[in-house]
Amino acid sequence: MNGNKAEIIRILKSSEGKPVSGQEIGSKLGITRAMVWKYIKEIKKDGYEIQSSPKVGYALKSSPDMLYPEQIKAGLETSMLGKEILYYDEVESTNIIAKEIADKYPEGTIVIAETQDKGRGRMGSEWQSMPGGIWFSVILKPSVPLEYAAKITLLAGLAVTRAMQNLGVDARIKWPNDVLIRGKKVCGILTEVDAEVEKIEHIILGIGINANVKTNEFRDEIKENITSLEAELGKPIDRVSFIKDLFFELEQQYIKFKTQQFSSIVSEWISVSDTIGRKVTVTTPTRIIEGKAVGITDRGALLVQSKNNVREEIIAGRCRHSE
Ligand code: BTN
Repeated sequence: MNGNKAEIIRILKSSEGKPVSGQEIGSKLGITRAMVWKYIKEIKKDGYEIQSSPKVGYALKSSPDMLYPEQIKAGLETSMLGKEILYYDEVESTNIIAKEIADKYPEGTIVIAETQDKGRGRMGSEWQSMPGGIWFSVILKPSVPLEYAAKITLLAGLAVTRAMQNLGVDARIKWPNDVLIRGKKVCGILTEVDAEVEKIEHIILGIGINANVKTNEFRDEIKENITSLEAELGKPIDRVSFIKDLFFELEQQYIKFKTQQFSSIVSEWISVSDTIGRKVTVTTPTRIIEGKAVGITDRGALLVQSKNNVREEIIAGRCRHSE
C-alpha cells in the first residue's frame, strides 16, 4: 500500500472516530486536499468505512477484518520485527515466498497471507490454512551456528504461548513447538534453515495460528485434536491486535536469545510447557524413545528418562504425550 494511504489511516485511527479535516491531513502529509480525497476513495475501496462530512472532515467508523500491513504497523511496538510486511490474499505457502526473498529483504521481514493453498506442516505434512487464521513467516538472520536453530524454534513457541495467555487462554507448549489449549493444537511452527558451512544464512520461522477458523472445517482425521482461539474464547479475536502483541513477544524473546544465556529462555519455556513431567513417546527419523520428559538442555534438546534410567537428549522429533 502507498505510504500516504497508510499514513491517512494512521491519522484517522489516532483521532479515535472524531473527524479530521482534509486540510489538516493534507498539511501533515504535504499534499493537496484533492489528493487526500483521492486516497480516501481508495481506502474506502479496501474496506474501511469512512464518514465524510463537508467542512468537517473524515472520520473512521470501522476497519476491515484483514491483516493489511498498515493496520499491523500502526502502533506496533517493535524495532525490527514487522517493519517490512509483504501481504497476500492467497499464496501456496508463506514459507516458500519468505525463502525466495530472504536474501533481498532485511531481518524481521514478515510474509503474511489470509489463506494458503499448500500450507506446509512439520515432517512433510499438509497444513490447512483457511480464512480467519493467522499464517505468516518471519525472516531471521541471527548469524549463529546451525545447531542454534532448535533454540529459535523453542523461543518462537514461547512467544506464541505468551501472546495467547495475554488473551486469557491457558496455552501450553508441547515439545518442540506445538501450542495447545486443553490438550488441543491451536498453533504449529515450521522452522526452515538455510545454512552454509555450518553457519545460518537465514531462518524462516513459519507460524500458523488457528485464530478465527471454524474447527469443523478441518480434515476428519485431525478435527478432534484441533482447536481455535475463537472456539476457546467463544468469540472471534481481533487478529490485528493479537499479531501486534505476538510480534512484540517474539522480538523480546529473540533479543533475549541474542543477549542472554539460553537457560533464561529454557526456564520460562519449562514453566509453560505441557510436556515436562509427562510420559512421552518421541519418534525421530531413526528411532522411537519412550520415557518421562524431564527437562530441556541448554542446546534446546528434550531430555527423556527412559525405562532403564538412561537419559536421552533429543534435538528433533515428533512427540506424543502418553498420559
Ligand atoms: C506444524 O506442522 O505443526 C507446523 C505448521 C506450520 C504452519 C505455518 S502457516 C505459515 C507458514 N507457512 C507454511 O506453509 N507453514 C507455516
